[in-house]
Amino acid sequence: MNTERKIKQKIWSKEHTYFLIVQPGLESILRDEITSFGYDISKKIIGGIEVKGKLDVLYDISLKTRVATKILFRLAHFKATHLSEIKKALNKVDFCLFWGKNTHFNITVSSKSSKLYHTDMVKEFIAKEILKFSQKNDFNYIMDKKSPETLYVRIENNEVTLSLDSSGDFLYKRNIKKKTSKAPVRENIAAALLLKYWDKNKLLLDPMCGSATFSIEASMIKNDIAPGINRDFNFMNWVNFREKTFSFLKNKYKNNLNYNVQSIQTSDIEDSSVAIANENLSLFNIKAEKKNFFDIIPSEKSGFIVMNLPYDKRIRVEMDFYKKVENKLLKDFKNWEYLILISKNHKFNKLKKDKLRIKNGGILLDIYHGIL
Ligand SMILES: C[S@@+](CC[C@H](N)C(=O)[O-])C[C@H]1O[C@@H](n2cnc3c(N)ncnc32)[C@H](O)[C@@H]1O
Repeated sequence: MNTERKIKQKIWSKEHTYFLIVQPGLESILRDEITSFGYDISKKIIGGIEVKGKLDVLYDISLKTRVATKILFRLAHFKATHLSEIKKALNKVDFCLFWGKNTHFNITVSSKSSKLYHTDMVKEFIAKEILKFSQKNDFNYIMDKKSPETLYVRIENNEVTLSLDSSGDFLYKRNIKKKTSKAPVRENIAAALLLKYWDKNKLLLDPMCGSATFSIEASMIKNDIAPGINRDFNFMNWVNFREKTFSFLKNKYKNNLNYNVQSIQTSDIEDSSVAIANENLSLFNIKAEKKNFFDIIPSEKSGFIVMNLPYDKRIRVEMDFYKKVENKLLKDFKNWEYLILISKNHKFNKLKKDKLRIKNGGILLDIYHGIL
């Protein structure tokens, strides 16, 4: 059977398993998001969820998810305590159905509680097997650490899962921001927290906006903008790419784009942050202003205030900064709902700490949420 027919039979007309990766702690928010798109979740584990479907499901979720950081295409799952078992399973994977003749590829191996614990050795072995496969088919595959085309090999309790990275760049890279300021929050974390806590009909105040991550994500949620429409995905490089299906979905989300529905107020004390925020907000109908949070008197009786406070290592602040923030909120923001991200080394006295704790750029953050 020629490759084109095999692609139609084995890839296009079959359901596949996709693993959506997310930072630990955000799995339930991701599950709720994917369920809201109308897809069933087949599994939820620490660090992600599994969804099954044909390629259109992969394309659709890649374009629409605000919360996942990557989507892996599952290739195989099997038990192995020896390299010979890996070889047997690899022989069944037809890389021709994904990779073109001159593909550069990379391999990432992780191992936990397994006999095959020597990850470098496993990596070298798999690379050799793939190169043999390439030679046999008269292809020119090249192992290349920098290639986004990555085969993920996860070994846990002597079970091996092989997957391909369908996303390439992390999905939180929306290709919207032009610049970042100090200590930005990851886009998918900001979006996940907004999806969980923010009622999008409420006015949103982002008074320490930095590069305006919260304002951008909030505006995209409010205007129902698919976060992936401005970027490419690695699956577009695969020989099995269904361009028409993908373009149909992308155009559906691109048509009727509206960046204008807002009730978002954005500000920061630093000139440089305000300039960066305004560059990043150029698509949106939002203008960041220079304001000291401690001088703000809210224009509305209630609303939603979101703050990713500067924390120790990244941005220095005065010793009593957190106490002053708490006092200001209690004094001038009565009836307002707050969502605050703060390094776990700092605490508030009266604000309510949520159970959720997440890691942003290697720093553990506590979440405070409630009504003042
Ligand atoms: C951790 S950063 C926010 C990062 C932002 N969430 C992002 O994704 O880019 C904290 C921001 O608080 C701002 N800031 C510090 N003190 C402030 C104050 N008194 N009023 C307004 N902004 C302040 C800093 O200039 C900095 O941009």
